[in-house]
Amino acid sequence: MTNLKERLLYTANNPTDDRGRMRAVANNLILHLHPTKVPAPALKWSYTWGLGGMSATLALVLLITGVLLMFRYDASVERAYTSIQNLETQVAFGALIRGLHHWSANLLIVTTFLHLIRVFLTGGFKQGRTTNWLIGVILLLLVVAFNFTGYLLPWDQLAFWAITVGTSLLSYVPVVGAAISNFLLAGPEVGQGALRNFYAIHVAVLPAIMIILLSYHFWKVRKDGGISQPISKERTRVERLTTIPHLVQKEFAAAVVVITAVTIFAMLVPAPLEALANPSHPPNPAKAAWYFMGLQELLLHMHPLAAMLLPGIVLAAIAAIPYWDKREEDIGVYFRSKVGTGTAVIGAILGIALPPVLVIVDEYWLDLPALMPNISTLISNGLIPLALSLGGLAAIYFLFRVIARANRSEATVGLFVFLMVSLVTLTVIGIFFRGANMALVW
Ligand code: HEM
Repeated sequence: MTNLKERLLYTANNPTDDRGRMRAVANNLILHLHPTKVPAPALKWSYTWGLGGMSATLALVLLITGVLLMFRYDASVERAYTSIQNLETQVAFGALIRGLHHWSANLLIVTTFLHLIRVFLTGGFKQGRTTNWLIGVILLLLVVAFNFTGYLLPWDQLAFWAITVGTSLLSYVPVVGAAISNFLLAGPEVGQGALRNFYAIHVAVLPAIMIILLSYHFWKVRKDGGISQPISKERTRVERLTTIPHLVQKEFAAAVVVITAVTIFAMLVPAPLEALANPSHPPNPAKAAWYFMGLQELLLHMHPLAAMLLPGIVLAAIAAIPYWDKREEDIGVYFRSKVGTGTAVIGAILGIALPPVLVIVDEYWLDLPALMPNISTLISNGLIPLALSLGGLAAIYFLFRVIARANRSEATVGLFVFLMVSLVTLTVIGIFFRGANMALVW
């Protein structure tokens, strides 16, 4: 009895029968995506956690279930909601396919976000991987755009009001905001034009961009010499293992785990469908989709322009990280070093503790517009809190540099962890601690 590796290699080299030929084709395909051998340390679960592979699997599940949904979905204001109801009640496995699509989309936001964090923490953007980092940032935005445009399609109360809240923010974007909103909604408010446009963007524009960028992302991982690796200090040669079966087995396992988990979840928890959209009856509270709750929380404390500028600046800074942190000695090492681990722990503690304190202080005690009645609220409630927030972030960075004696790379780790944990904390506050009229509730 030969083992799997020998069998695969044998059949790939001897494609004389049909099975052998099919296997040779499959192996060929795999070896177009991957190099023939990969460094053993890159195969460790605890390095990538399979997050890129899981995201790719979920994207594939979304593509397949999305195409199936298109056979029954009707993008018209009169029929969208009933087409979803019919799909769930009259089509065999219709509810399961919708559930798989819905939960995979939500999970993809989580896995992509965690993949970004893993790549950052191991310095996976260094040594010529800048392009792939930038492509990755666009991929994250694409994943959010997919979720946002898909949210409207069931045309229920949740969909209608989440998109109404979300797109109303666009009006605060200077110069181009109104034009983008008009283009997206095809009119002043969410209606038939918006549903048609969101559908076209969701099923044609975004998938086309996604397929191109994902193909490039995978190709570039290979072109960059595989995934990042710590620089070997002992100058010993790192052990290299064949892609087939070592890497392929791991990728297959990650795919099976994620597909099984999301299928079981979709069977137990149906995708939500609320009452038919009613434009004259907003729910209270009218919340945005969960992944925008951090942004909505900022809006409760700042002028909308500042609440949009702050995440915009942070996103631009995240995109620019490869130009800022070029130290290559620490590539492939989680948190860079012991000092980096320390700044990350402090960043995480601050990210859990500071946002709730600031939210409570602003909610009950601090009223900047009342303190500065003669100044426009754009300044008192917008530019001043924005400047204070950016100043606070700079202060955290310099505290790491001075007190923890962290180098640029290690201090950036602390600040990055603070920002990511703060985003999660604000999202949790928005989801669980905001009630009627968006008041704080326990
Ligand atoms: C749909 C979204 C995405 C998919 C499917 C995806 C997929 C992958 C896969 C399969 C890998 C190989 C290694 C691994 O599994 O970790 C990888 C590596 C990489 N990804 Fe992504 N990715 C996505 C989004 C992102 C994002 C948001 C970023 C960062 C902004 C990013 C940046 C990178 C970089 C720089 C590498 C090389 C990492 C290294 O060498 O350690 N990707 N990606």
